[in-house]
Amino acid sequence: MVYQIYPRSFADSNGDGIGDLPGITSRVPYLRSLGVDAVWLSPFYPSALADGGYDVDDHRNVDPRLGTLGDFDAMITALHGADIKVIVDIVPNHTSNRHPWFREALTAGRGAPQRDRYLFRNGLGPRGEQPPNDWQSMFGGSAWAPAGDGQWYFHCFAAEQPDLNWESDEVREDFRRTVRFWADRGVDGFRIDVAHGLRKDLSEPYPPWDEIADIMRPDGSHPLWDRDDVHEIYADWRRIFDAYDPPRFAVGEASVHPARRARYASAESLGQAFNFAMQDADWRPEDYREVINSGVADMINSTTSWLLGCHDTPRVATRYGLPLEEDRPAQQVAREWLLADGATPRLDRALGERRARAAIMILLALPGSAYIYQGDELGLQEVADLPREVLEDPMASRTTKEKGRDGCRVPLPWSANGPSYGFGQHVGHLPQPEWFAAYAVDVQEADPGSMLNLYRRALALRRELFVSDDLHWVESESSVLHFARPGGVRCITNFGAAPVALPVGEILLSCGQLDQGRLPSDTTVWMRAR
Ligand code: NOJ
Ligand code: CA
Repeated sequence: MVYQIYPRSFADSNGDGIGDLPGITSRVPYLRSLGVDAVWLSPFYPSALADGGYDVDDHRNVDPRLGTLGDFDAMITALHGADIKVIVDIVPNHTSNRHPWFREALTAGRGAPQRDRYLFRNGLGPRGEQPPNDWQSMFGGSAWAPAGDGQWYFHCFAAEQPDLNWESDEVREDFRRTVRFWADRGVDGFRIDVAHGLRKDLSEPYPPWDEIADIMRPDGSHPLWDRDDVHEIYADWRRIFDAYDPPRFAVGEASVHPARRARYASAESLGQAFNFAMQDADWRPEDYREVINSGVADMINSTTSWLLGCHDTPRVATRYGLPLEEDRPAQQVAREWLLADGATPRLDRALGERRARAAIMILLALPGSAYIYQGDELGLQEVADLPREVLEDPMASRTTKEKGRDGCRVPLPWSANGPSYGFGQHVGHLPQPEWFAAYAVDVQEADPGSMLNLYRRALALRRELFVSDDLHWVESESSVLHFARPGGVRCITNFGAAPVALPVGEILLSCGQLDQGRLPSDTTVWMRAR
């Protein structure tokens, strides 16, 4: 299991409100007790935080507010000492606008070779005062920002994140250096940000935005996303990864058509790709069945992975606590609820938590890699009512259609008391609500039925039980999800309202009390059927 740490919100060792690398080091015993095999750290590089650190000033250094390279080495030593591998985030699609290359590009002026590392184009109109086309940024607004001299630069995300030109040899060479830099420091693997971006066709005539707004294509024909030649870059990195002993691991963040996911996960490319389908699934047995079938199908030629949450999406316990709607997916319902600061529709936290418990037991019973986002093991809920003036996500300021992703990035509660519930000695960079106290690690450690203790038990059992990849469906009524794993172990979930009978056998783990031997609503058991 890979545990995702969002460093600025994990643990703050020096009381400045920002989580840091020594904070992570201090929590290694916690990670070990959870049963983590590897941690993936979201960016900790120098950054003005225009996009939570995904706007990188220097890919080969540590943000001084988070520590030093020495702190990084101490952290990796402590993690390795606890048998936990370390995965770092590589952000190759863009740099920040404070990166020395981008500063040089701006001052060098129109047509200068320094601009070739990015995607500059002439604007329209007599003085180039209009952007080259009507393409939109993923965070809202135009994907072009003016250089001030009639040229514009392209940015898929915030204007502070200019896209790199991957046809430039210098860009390619610099990222080879970055990968080697961290691998030489002992990093075990890499998470590749926006792995489906990088290669772009910005040749004219430009198709209108309407034609390309849907980014998921099954054939690699989109000018910006999931182009076939992106895999040349990963084949090149693969040679670097494989030159290490043991070979370095990589996982791509590739939001692509399901039919294209396996390419990123192939042995010649990155080796693994996030499968976001479960994170996007609604709490319905047919949705889960489909997601599992498509993920398992990926395993024939490549690998598969599962996740219920990350730093980009409303918390799972909240998504599942909002009303299930016929025509709007839970992701959308949650985003609209966030826009309304959580006022409507009504959130049923207990229901969300119950379903999140049942869901993690399904996820942990599947073959393949599991990713867990920090705080989901506490059953944390999304914080919906953060005041607008504290929001950090550029999405919140670039569009009125989204409140942004800060609600899942609020600093973790470690103890029921203290100015930031044990996160640090002072308040954290985003305010924690009072109800976080009830979710604190120390509260949950003392409660055998807590979410944290369920995660610990499930992760320990998972290692013991699921030693090979076989999975087959067991026929059941339509409101029940039932599959068998090696050694006759069954994973059974009741999505229906009424309790259902269980096969005869031994219960290994249940996320809730059984009802006279029957499986109640929104509950999963692992059992060995006789
Ligand atoms: C994906 C990251 O997960 C997200 O947080 C970020 O905003 C974009 N990539 C841009 O780097
Ligand atoms: Ca700090």
